[in-house]
Amino acid sequence: MKKICPSILSADFSDLKKQILEVEKAGADIIHCDIMDGNFVPNISFGAKVIADVNNITDLPLDVHLMINSPERFIDEFYEAGADYISVHYENNLHLNRVINQIKYLGLKAGVVLNPSTPVFMLDDIIESADYVLIMSVNPGFGGQKFIPNSLDKIRKLKEKIFKNNYKCDIEVDGGVGLGNIKEISEAGADMFVCGSSIFGAENKAEVIKRMKSLI
Ligand code: DX5
Ligand code: ZN
Repeated sequence: MKKICPSILSADFSDLKKQILEVEKAGADIIHCDIMDGNFVPNISFGAKVIADVNNITDLPLDVHLMINSPERFIDEFYEAGADYISVHYENNLHLNRVINQIKYLGLKAGVVLNPSTPVFMLDDIIESADYVLIMSVNPGFGGQKFIPNSLDKIRKLKEKIFKNNYKCDIEVDGGVGLGNIKEISEAGADMFVCGSSIFGAENKAEVIKRMKSLI
């Protein structure tokens, strides 16, 4: 089943509990949590304490997207905080196979993330180990950016690779996803849709989620 994953980066942090319960009630499938270190990406967000607090208020699975250097040092901490999915970037991991196995060993879903300029063929020797691949459709670091059009091609290529080889791997898309393009992204082959500003920036979040679900 395809999944809508609201990204709390775009939520009002002074009102986080209410907003998370609102999207949960509206049928969101997963809560996407962006961890930024001001180093791998030019922004700082929040850490494991926030994940633990969010985990206490929702039954939804938590998808932790690590935009940090040396992610292997923090996997246990996010596991203990309640992460269900953890993804790490291809671009800053010298030992990607090791860190993916580290995540899977804890019983979590492990994902590999590709930046917009990293080609899909870079996944050739890791995709078999990954539970999901996250295609960044904006440069990571900020919410509210515009979807980069060639991401659709990347999703199609990845879908074909997964289909041909019968891999058990989902495709997640993150950045600039909204009501205007979610149908096309779904048709390209995506399974999980990360939506920050298009959901948390909306007056009626429930209506947006309902419409998104009817389009995917
Ligand atoms: C960007 C983050 C995204 C962000 C998406 O680096 O990884 O998850 O929250 O925000 P929107 O949906 O507004 O592009
Ligand atoms: Zn993200």
